[in-house]
Amino acid sequence: MPISAEAVRNLQENDLRVLHALERLMKRYQWVPLEILGRATGFGEKETLFRLSRLLALGMAKYEKVPYDGYTLVFAGYDALALDALAAKDTVKALGPFIGEGKESVVYEGLGVGRLVLKFHRVGQRSFQSARVKRGYMPEEGHVPWIFASALSAGREFLALQKLHPKVPVPVPVERNRHVVVMSFVHGMILSKCTPEDPPAVLATILRHVKEAYRLGVIHGDLSEFNVMVEGDRCVLIDWPQWVETDHPNAGETLERDLRVVLGYFERKFGIGYPLDRALAEVTG
Ligand SMILES: Nc1ncnc2c1ncn2[C@@H]1O[C@H](COP(=O)(O)OP(=O)(O)OP(=O)(O)O)[C@@H](O)[C@H]1O
Ligand SMILES: [Mg+2]
Repeated sequence: MPISAEAVRNLQENDLRVLHALERLMKRYQWVPLEILGRATGFGEKETLFRLSRLLALGMAKYEKVPYDGYTLVFAGYDALALDALAAKDTVKALGPFIGEGKESVVYEGLGVGRLVLKFHRVGQRSFQSARVKRGYMPEEGHVPWIFASALSAGREFLALQKLHPKVPVPVPVERNRHVVVMSFVHGMILSKCTPEDPPAVLATILRHVKEAYRLGVIHGDLSEFNVMVEGDRCVLIDWPQWVETDHPNAGETLERDLRVVLGYFERKFGIGYPLDRALAEVTG
């Protein structure tokens, strides 16, 4: 289901109070009982139920009878909380069109101070859903772990952008709220979809950026032709949530994997033979 800025705009103060209370209570309950929600919001039962019925209709919360009557926040509700916070700060003035969907994120264009990208992290969503479908109940590990996992992932990505910008060409980090990273819009095309005029120069540029990131203590961890955007002779490295520190025990193999993937692509697609050892020595040298 697409994210609806309209639905978020139409939320009333009391809807938001219930959403905020649900979010807080998810730390303690898998399914928040009605009385507990009422107490947290200070609303009577009638008002709480009315607000919940609105949120259920918008797909922002869910109701379950088993194991007991309870309510839970779902991604659309979490998205709404983040969008509301970003709009209140004037960071995001409008949500633009859907740009893409990855393994663990949904990406939208946005408007703020210029053209923006909003990346909604969705960690554990699939496993969470399939567990529900297959077994009919929530996975046991913690209360709705996807909320915390997704916020953590967004936090990690934002931190990487802050460490790297402006020394390494990455999207400019604008703000992070919950599981949403707001960054500048990068023009250009994903490397896998474009045919550069001078492939060896593009490869050299990417290696230069990997080297500079390494010098700043950051290894991408998921580098590939799908996470490099090319515009003319400019290469921007995107998609950083899984980065690792250069002093991490897995740093060596992570860097090697990143380079192997990139070199493999240039070899397959453009017939450029570039030894891994040489790239490794250059990046770490
Ligand atoms: N700052 C940006 N500017 C323009 N387009 C972007 C930007 N960030 C992401 N995109 C677009 O959204 C797509 C998905 O973004 P990203 O690669 O960060 O996440 P992802 O693909 O979900 O992650 P994964 O690699 O785990 O699938 C990109 O391929 C790109 O087309
Ligand atoms: Mg990606």
